[in-house]
Amino acid sequence: MDQSNTMAPTQPRDVWAAGQAYEPYMGRWSRLVAREFVDWLALPSGARWLDIGCGTGALTQTIAARAAPAAVMGLDRSDGFVAFAGQDAGGRHIVFQTGDAQSLPFPDRTFDAVVSGLLLNFVPDPARAADEMRRVLRPGGTAAAYVWDYAGGMQLIRHFWSAAAALDPAAQALDEARRFPLCNPERLRALFGDCGFARTECRIIDVPTVFRDFDDYWAPFLGEQGPAPTYCGTLPDEQRIALTVATPPHLQRGRHRGCDPCPESHRTASVPEARAAACAGAV
Ligand SMILES: C[S@@+](CC[C@H](N)C(=O)[O-])C[C@H]1O[C@@H](n2cnc3c(N)ncnc32)[C@H](O)[C@@H]1O
Repeated sequence: MDQSNTMAPTQPRDVWAAGQAYEPYMGRWSRLVAREFVDWLALPSGARWLDIGCGTGALTQTIAARAAPAAVMGLDRSDGFVAFAGQDAGGRHIVFQTGDAQSLPFPDRTFDAVVSGLLLNFVPDPARAADEMRRVLRPGGTAAAYVWDYAGGMQLIRHFWSAAAALDPAAQALDEARRFPLCNPERLRALFGDCGFARTECRIIDVPTVFRDFDDYWAPFLGEQGPAPTYCGTLPDEQRIALTVATPPHLQRGRHRGCDPCPESHRTASVPEARAAACAGAV
């Protein structure tokens, strides 16, 4: 199966293939959002869940750990991510499989809850994915999703694109805040409402993104998974170095300068936040 997501013809191609590289870039922060999200949904135990666009399993595994499900299915288009997620599926009623969120390979009315984390803005037709969520839900079931608020509080991505655009005007068109207008509570609520979900509720979920040092912040951008790292991978060395220099000073506080051991001031962690918009509705 294709391991990338090709958006509309004018959209860039996003790479989703290497779970090992995705985890330190985005998976670790999505896992923090997933905890808040699953607790907020507060669905009864014994439910059958589907997590679409499950990636490396951040939300799927959180459901298994916190919601006492009867079963959880994680589905993603990326063979590499599904294989990575499957390494940690043991013994907790989790199954991972490849598939397309816009054409779910399940009969109508199969699940009690259908959820997604950081997916909906990456599918070419989010309304079609929402319709598919609705189709496979049982009567009384819950659909819910979260996306990063790229234009607002998803600070680590915001800082990256601000620095990139200052050096390279062409980067502006790749900025996820510009590419994904869906990513705020109002638009997410409208998507769910238009799809016919009842009793829609939306909220913001903020999580701290604490970095050990500058490398902990920067190295994941070199992993070439998702829009910002994919862009980074296209740059020649000198432009990548310029990008690190253009990173805001508060994120550079933990930057090592060849010292060993480092003074405490070089190890100071930088602490921006990541903000997600979440929405839930019922059939
Ligand atoms: C930002 S990642 C989110 C992964 C995971 N849910 C998380 O929260 O960390 C986006 C995921 O959506 C998947 N994806 C993109 N388009 C898809 C589609 N049409 N059907 C299924 N998965 C898709 C990608 O392969 C990738 O794993």
